[in-house]
Amino acid sequence: MDTNLARLQTITSPEQDRFADSLLNGLRKTSKEIACKYFYDEAGSRLFDAICDLPEYYQTRTEMTLLARHAVEIAALMGDGAEIVEFGAGSLRKIRVLLDAAQNPRAYTPLDISGDYLRNVVRSLAADYPALTLRPLVGDFTLPLEIPALPGPVRRAGFFPGSTIGNFKPDAAMALLRRMRSTLNGGGLLIGVDLVKDPARLHAAYNDAAGITALFNKNLLIRANRELGADFDPEGFAHYAPYNAAAHRIEMYLVSLKRQSVNLCGQRFEFAQGEPVHTEDSHKYTIESFREMAARAGFSPRAVWTDQDRLFSVHWLESR
Ligand code: TRP
Repeated sequence: MDTNLARLQTITSPEQDRFADSLLNGLRKTSKEIACKYFYDEAGSRLFDAICDLPEYYQTRTEMTLLARHAVEIAALMGDGAEIVEFGAGSLRKIRVLLDAAQNPRAYTPLDISGDYLRNVVRSLAADYPALTLRPLVGDFTLPLEIPALPGPVRRAGFFPGSTIGNFKPDAAMALLRRMRSTLNGGGLLIGVDLVKDPARLHAAYNDAAGITALFNKNLLIRANRELGADFDPEGFAHYAPYNAAAHRIEMYLVSLKRQSVNLCGQRFEFAQGEPVHTEDSHKYTIESFREMAARAGFSPRAVWTDQDRLFSVHWLESR
């Protein structure tokens, strides 16, 4: 085992929830829903990586370019000897450009909800960065979490890319930013935010021609079948992801293609033909609207970087 790689540590919250309870509650509602964090089991994490490489999905490419272009400036803002904490670390592709520029990082602490996936991806990072202390944590950053402190006074710098903040309703996004601010203990946050733009472009990004996003959406049902013994027919549901221009968000649903019933944990759920199950929102911001929200959450928005076409933005927020 690599010596710079700490053992995978699971951190739980007093408010820990389980897939089964969350799904049962969501399907009992008049407007059915499934919480989007359950997308990310190992299969879902891999499908999401495939989404990031899709020609229609401009986000990942654009954010990577911004991070690479401004890595030196970002590293200076993060400061010398910082512990970099990544929320929802995923494939660990984006962190590499930051680590290459970082000034003596004290440690890199990726936090992800999928332990199986994290276990695999940290190995190759550890091999490529032998001098770096790596502390992989399995946990749900949407809940109040205590990240164990490293010995000594260590300044933290947060990293929250991929516009994951957009997957929370504005109130929840604010609450999450506040929580991150307290986790960071006075340190700043580097955050990627997708921007409001031409609806056709947004629509294409969530309705790709190859149908990977549809597979990703339906993976929720396959996961429920595998982990909870449910009997969803994935072919009986369609991926539907319209852009709600008034609310500046993509809304994602699984729509029942027929009248059907599904058994889950000894209970039966009826679906009408055409009935939607809400699975995710992806809110889009303007640079100004995001900076305002960050300020209301207790950050001082400092630097912001965007591409020529203003597709995506990366913000450096200081704690105050
Ligand atoms: N944070 C990403 C986004 O909102 C997550 C995402 C991208 C996503 N494509 C998706 C989630 C498709 C579900 C389905 O863009």
